[in-house]
Amino acid sequence: MFHLVLATMLQDAAVPAAIGTFTDIYSANVSLLRKPQRGIRHSFFYISHLYLCQDPLARKLVAGEDNLLHAGANVDYMTRRALIGDELVLSGHVNGTRQVVSLGAGMDSRAFRLGLSDTTFFEVDKQALFDVKEPLVAENALQASSRHLVVGTIGQMDLPAALRAAGHDSARPTTWLMEGLAPYLTVAIMHELAKDVGALSAPGSSLWLDGFSQTSVEKGMYFHGVKFESGLDNYDELWLSNGFDFSQQVDMTGVYLDGAQKIQVDPRYIVTATQTRGHNMCLMARATKSAPRCPAH
Ligand SMILES: C[S@@+](CC[C@H](N)C(=O)[O-])C[C@H]1O[C@@H](n2cnc3c(N)ncnc32)[C@H](O)[C@@H]1O
Repeated sequence: MFHLVLATMLQDAAVPAAIGTFTDIYSANVSLLRKPQRGIRHSFFYISHLYLCQDPLARKLVAGEDNLLHAGANVDYMTRRALIGDELVLSGHVNGTRQVVSLGAGMDSRAFRLGLSDTTFFEVDKQALFDVKEPLVAENALQASSRHLVVGTIGQMDLPAALRAAGHDSARPTTWLMEGLAPYLTVAIMHELAKDVGALSAPGSSLWLDGFSQTSVEKGMYFHGVKFESGLDNYDELWLSNGFDFSQQVDMTGVYLDGAQKIQVDPRYIVTATQTRGHNMCLMARATKSAPRCPAH
C-alpha cells in the first residue's frame, strides 16, 4: 500500500523534483515498519497488515514512509483510494472485464498483485515516472496476462491512438482508473479526456476518479508545490454526457471502510452539482456503461 502513497506523493510534485525526493526516500530504511508512531498507529497497522504481506512490491517501495508521513501524506485517504480501485477492478473482472487502464498510473501495482492472470493492464503516465518505477518493478512477476506502458502526457498525446498501439481493444469492456489525476488536468483537458474515455468504453466498462469541487480548487490548492488545475462540481454529469448511463458523485467524507475492510458509501453523501457548488469538497465519481441485457427466453 505504501508504494501507492509514495507514488502519490512523488507524482504530485514536478517529476524531476520528485525523482530527487524518491531517491532519498528509496534509500531510506524501513524502520517505521517496526516503529509505529503516535497518531498513525491505526493506518500503519492497517496498511502493514493488509498490504505488506500480499503485495510483493510494498516492502520495497515502503522505504520512505517515515518521510511521507512527516510530509503530510493522508494515509487513510490513500488507503480508501487504493481499495476503491481494487474493488472496481475486481468487480469488473467478475463481470468479464479483462482490460484495465490506469490513467496517471503512478506506482499503481495492481498488475503485480491482484492475481488477474487473464487481464491486460495499461498504465498511462509520463516518461519520467516510468524511469523511476520500472527499475523497481523489474524483478517482480506479473500477475496479469500482460502490462503495457503508455507513455505520454494526457492533454498533449493522442490517447486513443496510443492505447490502440499498445493493444487496447475498445470493442471490449475496460475498467478505467483515474486516481489522483483529475486535479492536475485543466477543465478543457478533463472534458477531452472524458470524450476519449467514453468513445473507448465498450458496454460493460466502468470507471472511477477522485477530485475536488470547483470552489476547493479555485481557492488555490497545492500539493507538494504543484498547483491543482481544476475541480468540477459535476463529475457525474461529465460521464453521463460521454456515453455512460450510470454515474454518481460522492462527497468523500461519506466513503468509508467497514469492519470487513470493504469500501462503503453512505448514500447521504451522494451529491449533485447543485449540492456541490460553492462548497469545499473532495469528491469521488464512478460511472458504468451498461452491458446489453440478455434477451428473455
Ligand atoms: C497523484 S498521482 C496518482 C498516482 C496513482 N494513480 C495513485 O493513485 O497513487 C498523479 C499521477 O498522474 C500523473 N499525471 C499527472 N498529470 C498527467 C498527465 N497530464 N498525463 C499523464 N499523467 C499525468 C503523474 O505523473 C502521477 O503519476
